[in-house]
Amino acid sequence: MTGEEAIKRAARDIAKAKRVVAFTGAGISVESEIAPFRGKGGLWERYNPEEYAHISTFRNNPEKSWQMLADMLTHIKKAKPNPAHRALAELEKLRKLRCIITQNVDNLHQKAGNTSVIDFHGNTRWLTCLECGRKYKLDDFSLEEIPPRCECRAVLKPDAVFFGEPIPMDALRRSQEEASKCDLMLVIGTSAVIQPAASLPIIAKRAGATVIEINPEPTPITGIVSDYLIEGKAGEVLPRIVEAVGKIGIRK
Ligand code: APR
Repeated sequence: MTGEEAIKRAARDIAKAKRVVAFTGAGISVESEIAPFRGKGGLWERYNPEEYAHISTFRNNPEKSWQMLADMLTHIKKAKPNPAHRALAELEKLRKLRCIITQNVDNLHQKAGNTSVIDFHGNTRWLTCLECGRKYKLDDFSLEEIPPRCECRAVLKPDAVFFGEPIPMDALRRSQEEASKCDLMLVIGTSAVIQPAASLPIIAKRAGATVIEINPEPTPITGIVSDYLIEGKAGEVLPRIVEAVGKIGIRK
């Protein structure tokens, strides 16, 4: 479903919902010039994730992981929130967004002003030394020289969840709780294939929530878990939905 009718339907659904949660993936940051992982131009087209983004590679050959990390983080360091991120910040200001659960590690929801964000796969704003535990800000490194090293000379690791690593317990628990208690979930810019993240829209659906997808193309959950898909770019669709929600006003 595309166009004005879909936008209006989503705005009506959000206006009458009592507890809205947004679940976002790499697609919401594509319009901030950050490549998605899958599909055309995706990061995993250039780097096999099982090779470059697995924790065992990082431990045994950190220089190799840092080839992929430098590519991804160079774009993240330059990236700015786009109209989609700003629309979700506006939805929080309208008191119609309880929280964002994001799979992204680019910190753009926080930069856009959202205050309730669960970083399901961590966040690359900080780097940690696995030897001595010291933490550093990504912004303090130019990434001209990789891999970045700690004062103790060990290689630093971004605070993102690598393949083969567990989801941080607190993020997992809070995300599952929010998904089970929401009555509407916006699923924005995700291919919905990675577990356990992709179970969150299913938890919401099972709890009776309306699940609305925003994506230029269908995904494996379209029409099965999601009630409807609004086909389009998040940076174009979300601002129009939030503007319509503002016009409807917030029914108590
Ligand atoms: N607006 C909305 N959606 C978009 C846009 C856009 N402008 N451009 C692309 N998309 C959609 C694509 O159609 C696709 O469905 O965003 C999705 C991106 O999918 P992935 O690249 O697989 O990203 P994501 O779903 O977040 O991946 C999940 O996989 O590799 C791991 O840890 C990584 O967090 C990531 C997880």
